[in-house]
Amino acid sequence: MQPLGTGLALAAALFLGSVALLKLCSPRPAALLRELRARQRDLSLYSSAAGSPEPLSARLGCAEVASLSGFGYVGSGFSKVVWKGRLADGRGIALKRIHREGSDMRRCLQLYGDPEGCQRLATYKLLKEVTLLKGLRHPGIVQLYGECYDNSLDPGRRVTALLELGSPLEMIQLLQTPWEERFKVCLSLVRLLRYLSRSPLGSVALLDFQPRQFVMVDGDLKVTDVDDAITEELTCRDDADCVLEFPTKSFNLTCAAAGRCEGINEKRNLYNAYRYFFTYLLPHTAPSALKPFLYDIMNATGDLRYGINETLEAFEKVLYLYKAGLHLPKRSQPLKEYRILKGFHLQEAQDYKCWPSYSHLSCLLSIHNEDEAAVICNSHPQCESFIVGEHRTWTGRHLATFRSSSTDLIPDANSTVYIKRSSASRKR
Ligand SMILES: Nc1ncnc2c1ncn2[C@@H]1O[C@H](COP(=O)(O)OP(=O)(O)OP(=O)(O)O)[C@@H](O)[C@H]1O
Ligand SMILES: *[C@@H]1O[C@H](CO)[C@@H](O)[C@H](O)[C@H]1NC(C)=O
Ligand SMILES: *[C@@H]1O[C@H](CO)[C@@H](O)[C@H](O)[C@H]1NC(C)=O
Ligand SMILES: *[C@@H]1O[C@H](CO)[C@@H](O)[C@H](O)[C@H]1NC(C)=O
Ligand SMILES: *[C@@H]1O[C@H](CO)[C@@H](O)[C@H](O)[C@H]1NC(C)=O
Repeated sequence: MQPLGTGLALAAALFLGSVALLKLCSPRPAALLRELRARQRDLSLYSSAAGSPEPLSARLGCAEVASLSGFGYVGSGFSKVVWKGRLADGRGIALKRIHREGSDMRRCLQLYGDPEGCQRLATYKLLKEVTLLKGLRHPGIVQLYGECYDNSLDPGRRVTALLELGSPLEMIQLLQTPWEERFKVCLSLVRLLRYLSRSPLGSVALLDFQPRQFVMVDGDLKVTDVDDAITEELTCRDDADCVLEFPTKSFNLTCAAAGRCEGINEKRNLYNAYRYFFTYLLPHTAPSALKPFLYDIMNATGDLRYGINETLEAFEKVLYLYKAGLHLPKRSQPLKEYRILKGFHLQEAQDYKCWPSYSHLSCLLSIHNEDEAAVICNSHPQCESFIVGEHRTWTGRHLATFRSSSTDLIPDANSTVYIKRSSASRKR
């Protein structure tokens, strides 16, 4: 066994030790004992594979949990509940614990009527998640800041994982954001899957891949629920053992010489990304010149013609085209129809809205350059002018505000106003 993080080693020892003790203390239902032992084996598998522990000084623990302010409920699922709080330095963090009233616990209690045994069974899930998060490091995975084991009441009973704080992924909300932001979400996901396919723990599959397993942090997608991850590929005798099944489709894979369905984890993740994310987020309001590339990505991932490498390459290509503005029509000097006032801004005012705007108060869109902005302005009946400031989106494109008037100019060194020559409100 490799060295483990001390906190985890201690908790695992307490936990595993207490499983052994169970038999002595009280009669446990045999089936519950079997479940506990299976989880114990599973956990020791991940513990021995877990990567290098971080320097302890950088990690947060029980002291930080005790001194949190602004405590609040965030959400819960079948097995875990998440709270948030603020550290002394103002940083927000998420706290994950076992959900005592959750349906996982209810199921266990109904089956076995053994609160303590069920609590231990549930604790296993969180320990597995903590162990996996230690071995997996990627911008697409919520960061584990530390853990707190409160064993004062009952050994191994209370584990709190301290995590990077995100906000729930709202698909409906995401569908209302500009394409560029949805593309970013899909690209983050593809980069994550690429990492998982060759992670330090092996090829990792996320068995539960629904959007609620992910959160958003500063516009980036991150997976937060990894207790349903597996790090080994299915064992097989022949190809018939390697069927990858989904509700509406199944794929026949091959059984490799090593007796494993090679690549099955990568393929499972990729098809799930296609069915839960790409189909909803990718094509919707995409620049029309990019649509053929996007439909190709969807077709290739939906049929698993592409592996994760090719999928990532295809995404990078779309990003390159988009950043370079190569998707734009070559139009002849639309800017000629505009007067250019460098060093000016327009007074903020209520104005027309467009969709999908970066602001819900105005028509704020990302542009490749002034030419594209002019084409956009020409296509909006209300548009009389636009302002290009210094703000940019994640791809480096400028943000432009489109306006129905051009009065109330104010000086601003970092901004330029473009006014339609035919503008009715051209007076200064
Ligand atoms: N780091 C985080 N920041 C903000 N919210 C989070 C974070 N982690 C989880 N959440 C929220 O808490 C909810 C429950 O967390 P989690 O998914 O880990 O629990 P679970 O019981 O395993 O859920 P499920 O039943 O969906 O598998 C999530 O749906 C998510 O909205
Ligand atoms: C997959 O294999 C099964 C037999 O194992 C066969 O019946 C089925 O037609 C195959 N499907 C495809 C798409 O090849
Ligand atoms: C991919 O394209 C082929 C050919 O047009 C089509 O038959 C197939 O159904 C498509 N697959 C998906 C997942 O869209
Ligand atoms: C994906 O790319 C990596 C290196 O970038 C390579 O090692 C790996 O073999 C590739 N996978 C496949 C399936 O081609
Ligand atoms: C303009 O940009 C410069 C450099 O980016 C910055 O230092 C300055 O504060 C900006 N001025 C205004 C008015 O925003």
